[in-house]
Amino acid sequence: TAPPSSAEPAAPMNRLKIGIYFVTWWSLNVVFNIYNKKVLNAYPFPWLTSTLSLLAGSTLMFLSWATGLVAPPDTDVEFWKSLFPVALAHTIGHVAATVSMSKVAVSFTHIIKSSEPAFSVVIQRLFLGEHFSLPVYLSLIPIVGGCGLAALTELNFNMTGFVGAMVSNIAFVFRNIFSKKGMKAGKAVGGLNYYACLSIMSLVLLTPFALVVEPPQQWISGWNVAVQNVGPQLFWWVMAQSVFYHLYNQVSYMSLDEISPLTFSIGNTMKRVSVIVSSIIIFRTPIQPINAVGAAIAVLGTFFYSQAKQ
Ligand code: 3PG
Repeated sequence: TAPPSSAEPAAPMNRLKIGIYFVTWWSLNVVFNIYNKKVLNAYPFPWLTSTLSLLAGSTLMFLSWATGLVAPPDTDVEFWKSLFPVALAHTIGHVAATVSMSKVAVSFTHIIKSSEPAFSVVIQRLFLGEHFSLPVYLSLIPIVGGCGLAALTELNFNMTGFVGAMVSNIAFVFRNIFSKKGMKAGKAVGGLNYYACLSIMSLVLLTPFALVVEPPQQWISGWNVAVQNVGPQLFWWVMAQSVFYHLYNQVSYMSLDEISPLTFSIGNTMKRVSVIVSSIIIFRTPIQPINAVGAAIAVLGTFFYSQAKQ
């Protein structure tokens, strides 16, 4: 997910452009989720792999700026100051989601993450004193109820996996609130470079913690075991999850320059549906019918939420 931003385009050509953005965003996200889980299954070091995703993105952007492929952003102190809370929340949300996916099925993490709108309403009501219409509050019932049902009937439930996804929800709501203000503070920076700066700052914030939580000696011994189990292609899986993480986030931030927050949140829900369905097929995740019903109710709830917010 990413912060809400500017206006809705009117022309039909823009619809095509947004369609292309969406399909690209979802496809990149599905590929990221598949490789991320393949890596975590073989090499369960979520703090390290989260850091590598940010490192890959930062490196790609430094290279793009150095070669002139992308014009570097013109930033000021105000910009970096306003980016700090956004980067802190992005870092927490990212590492929490990755820890979650290291413990439970990808589909389960994303079912819980589909309840992000409910967190958004509660947090904005409590911390910002914002009021919402009755239909918005009512839409939270299927979201919370559906997620609850899916969690209770999950065959491979794990508390760390559940809490990680919940922490990610809370952190990403704060990220969206901060970036709503942050994108307007200091000099204006477009979506592509905004996400690049966000990655760089998050990398700086996360690295010391990753070194403490998963010390480098364990990275190496764990790597040797993993390569024995899955073979040397593990290296390419790590590269794929890192690069695709950056690309899907970059596309989502770029699309924010073009679409309204409402269109964005509908797109994000559709993204979760693509990830849930494709990961269940690819990883042959065992699911009970009641579990699938819970997930479907939750996802439908987020659609009602989007409609109600309109
Ligand atoms: C992450 O690692 O940051 C999460 O997988 C992000 O999830 P989202 O972008 O789908 O909210």
